[in-house]
Amino acid sequence: MASIISTTNASSAVPLAGAKVVQIVGHPQIDNFLTSLTQVSGWTIAFTILALLVAYDQFSYLRQKGSIVGPAFKIPFIGPFLESVNPKFEEYQGKWASGELSCVSVFHKFVVIASTRDMSRKVFNSPMYVKPCVVDVAHKLLGPTNWVFLDGKAHVDFRKGLNGLFTRKALESYLPGQEEVYNTYFERFLRISKEANGPVPFMSEFREVMCAVSCRTFVGHYISDEAIKKIADDYYNITAALELVNFPIIIPYTKTWYGKKASEMVLEEFAKCAAKSKVRMAAGGEISCIMDGWVKSILDSANYRERQEKGLSLEGIEKPQPMLRSFTDYEISQTIFTFLFASQDATSSACTWLFQIMAQRPDVLDKVREENLRVRGGDKNKAITMEMIDEMVYTRGAVKELLRYRPPVLMVPYLVKKPFPITPTYTVPKGAMVIPTTYPSLRDPEVYENPDVYDPDRYVTGDAEVKGAKNFLVFGTGPHYCLGQIYAQNNLALMVGKAAMELDWVHHPTPVSEEIKVFATIFPKDDCPLVFTKRP
Ligand code: HEM
Ligand SMILES: *[C@@H]1O[C@H](CO)[C@@H](O)[C@H](O)[C@H]1NC(C)=O
Repeated sequence: MASIISTTNASSAVPLAGAKVVQIVGHPQIDNFLTSLTQVSGWTIAFTILALLVAYDQFSYLRQKGSIVGPAFKIPFIGPFLESVNPKFEEYQGKWASGELSCVSVFHKFVVIASTRDMSRKVFNSPMYVKPCVVDVAHKLLGPTNWVFLDGKAHVDFRKGLNGLFTRKALESYLPGQEEVYNTYFERFLRISKEANGPVPFMSEFREVMCAVSCRTFVGHYISDEAIKKIADDYYNITAALELVNFPIIIPYTKTWYGKKASEMVLEEFAKCAAKSKVRMAAGGEISCIMDGWVKSILDSANYRERQEKGLSLEGIEKPQPMLRSFTDYEISQTIFTFLFASQDATSSACTWLFQIMAQRPDVLDKVREENLRVRGGDKNKAITMEMIDEMVYTRGAVKELLRYRPPVLMVPYLVKKPFPITPTYTVPKGAMVIPTTYPSLRDPEVYENPDVYDPDRYVTGDAEVKGAKNFLVFGTGPHYCLGQIYAQNNLALMVGKAAMELDWVHHPTPVSEEIKVFATIFPKDDCPLVFTKRP
């Protein structure tokens, strides 16, 4: 028996198929059956079993596919895994164009892609049937107990406890930290261009500045500059691990393994910050970052509960809304990490395209610069306030149009909790992934005239805001819509406005500058070669 098993494994090029064979051979009834076939060679048995498994895999795929569009045949077991390791934007586009619902099957996962606005909205708005699964590997990186995997009421309740961190007042308190980071990094951009004395691909620099801004906003000065730099560097490995469907287990020295190592390091850093924030907030310190805001709500709730239990007077003490339980340093870290996880790739993508397109469109950049100087009363060093950001109508339009034109998040994977009748004729099976897409609805010519043209005026003097209200799926919709969407847009507006006043930059196009590379989110294939100089 043992020899059959080892032969089968050794002869199988596909590890997963090997594992399945071992499982079935270990089954007592099949063992008996096999023993009775003593005259048949081990090889024949092995190939027969393999053939049956291939047939089953195929049959199961076709049954799940039902009436929707998808390949007629699945590559045995792995499906288009090798393609999904290196996803091509054009392949996605082909898939979206193939039908409002289409499918593929990768390993054990059956995946349904919803491409139109209405199909996508239907998925986003069906929490009875679906829950987010970010990507397959996210459970392993964020920890299975992470709040983003909560569902239903538990999710709604947890999210309520975070809303206070993204109010207008809260967002205003993070602005000085953001400005400080941009000042530092703009100097760095100048230095890099000067030293290179020619164009340098800036994508990785943009990723770093975005990571630094996020860390300052999320954990303030509890983290050192060195730790931020390390997180920014290692974060690349987390992004690299984020394929739609990964190999089912983490194998040492693969991308998912490096991704997990990097996320453990970030979680550890943020847990240290949480411990410091608790001490400082307990001593009555001012809120300086998102973590402080959350820690303060937690402490206020604990204080309120304690007074209540001891029967002390609650006069003059406001009841925290909602009341929060106590969280360990690690739990706080896990939650803050989800913010970094949710923002890092998307904001880096938007930042990169924004710098590229502003270099190509001096007409837009001039207006952004003019507006930014105007709201600061002509003094470019004046500290930013929320009112100023409100007044930057054109700059915010330029950011919003960028997000329409180059939506960082193309697709948002959800998991089907119970058979999901998405149309009258097709039900997505339980356990499948169903993926609403953003891109096609953002390029809908019925809603956006000349959709392939970048035109901020759509959002300034035009009607895109109203007419495209249902199409603007850049931040999702429904119970999981992006918690950071106002923050993200303000932050990008602040960045591009400051850059417009302080810097000049030139894009050095290559033949692939307008081609899209999918790296969790989207980037120009040449990583955006630029030269920065100081504005006189
Ligand atoms: C341009 C930048 C960003 C884009 C394009 C973006 C996009 C998205 C999208 C598409 C979703 C899924 C929504 C859904 O399933 O309906 C999402 C969720 C989320 N985003 Fe963002 N995001 C951005 C920035 C940020 C930032 C800066 C933060 C945090 C500070 C953030 C925090 C979150 C969180 C926590 C969720 C999950 C919410 C939940 O499950 O309840 N995002 N984002
Ligand atoms: C990141 O991944 C690469 C391989 O892809 C590896 O060589 C490097 O050591 C990893 N970095 C960290 C900090 O684990």
